Amino acid sequence: MKKILVVFGTRPEAIKMCPVVKSLKKNNEMETIVCVTGQHKEMLQSVLDVFAVKPNYNLSIMKKGQTLFDITQLILEKMQAVLQQETPDMVLVHGDTTTAFATALAAFYLNIPVGHVEAGLRTYNPHAPYPEEFNRQAIGSMADLHFATTQQAAQRLLAEGKKENSIFVTGNTVIDALRTTVQQSYTHPVLEWLGDSRLLLMTAHRRENIGAPMQAIFKAVKQLVKQHPDIKVLYPVHPNPAVGEVARDMLGNEEHIKLVEPLDVLDFHNLMARSHLILTDSGGVQEEAPSLGKPVLVLRDVTERPEGVEAGALKLVGTNQKAIVTECSNLLQNPAQYQKMSKANNPYGDGHAAEKITDILQERIAV
Ligand code: UD1
Ligand code: UDP
Repeated sequence: MKKILVVFGTRPEAIKMCPVVKSLKKNNEMETIVCVTGQHKEMLQSVLDVFAVKPNYNLSIMKKGQTLFDITQLILEKMQAVLQQETPDMVLVHGDTTTAFATALAAFYLNIPVGHVEAGLRTYNPHAPYPEEFNRQAIGSMADLHFATTQQAAQRLLAEGKKENSIFVTGNTVIDALRTTVQQSYTHPVLEWLGDSRLLLMTAHRRENIGAPMQAIFKAVKQLVKQHPDIKVLYPVHPNPAVGEVARDMLGNEEHIKLVEPLDVLDFHNLMARSHLILTDSGGVQEEAPSLGKPVLVLRDVTERPEGVEAGALKLVGTNQKAIVTECSNLLQNPAQYQKMSKANNPYGDGHAAEKITDILQERIAV
């Protein structure tokens, strides 16, 4: 029987790969093995628990304040042993993390074919997002199969010279995940704290935003709650110490701002569905929000997700304090503009991406 090794290591990869694992495991003609690198620890475990996925391997590489050298070195070294032990027919990696890059490199060194899920995202600026733009381009140059999320992503891969019969448009598996998490009847203590206020949900973690840009974001949020007494901000703080220390220092004592530990994905998706507006530098959140009808102000200067901007669901506001306050205030005060953004179409597929990926693998591998 042909064997697929699915590898992931961070929260967003786990959210987007668990639907793939679940779908592959229903297929009797391929064996599915799951290896997590443990680039994230608590945030990864929380997703595995929600989706009830039990990995066969956990490389447990995370260190507090890890560097890109730490992650790359440890994965390369530990992945070699897993690949040699399992000799899979294909390794599936996801997106643009260092887990995905180092795993693809290890597979490439051992001449094991690589399948790239969420392929074809690009900014063509190697410093934004950093190091993700490099990671995904490098993975793209090693991959044998490219599972593109949209037609635009597929066109980019074609333009880069990838073979047409190696590219498949599947949609984004994050929509598959959302179909299983968002519930009609849902309660959470945060909703009591919220009362009649409008909820601004916020996340911020990108490496290139750490430092002055993140401080400007925090100043803008402080100014916004002063100017708009009917809003409350919920901010699940990423566990990176470089983010948390500044967040607690600058926002910790505000009555209308609640800093919480990272939420499990079930809570996050349900609170997103009950929010008014989202401020984020996250990639995954930009893909989820349009299908929940929530406008997103993107705290970045460029995005590899232009489909969401073109559909009208996302607006790039960057990290300038004044620009964030102005754009956010516009949406809070202008119902017509708000409605326009919230009614935009979701460009990321129908929530059946994982099944499409399984069918393609069945056709290409299990023969
Ligand atoms: C990583 C990815 C980024 C992705 C993000 C999703 C790379 C280079 N970066 O960035 O593409 O957008 O994940 O969140 O692959 N930590 C914990 N517990 C956890 C997770 C993280 O304590 O469960 C802390 C640790 O101190 C760790 C630090 O956060 O050293 C940073 O984690 P790391 O994976 O290096 O970077 P992220 O910013 O999370
Ligand atoms: N998310 C979550 N809990 C949180 C914040 C985010 O489960 O407290 C989810 C969110 O729904 C999305 C994913 O995490 O699916 C995004 O991860 P992150 O922003 O860390 O990484 P990125 O997508 O930018 O790589």
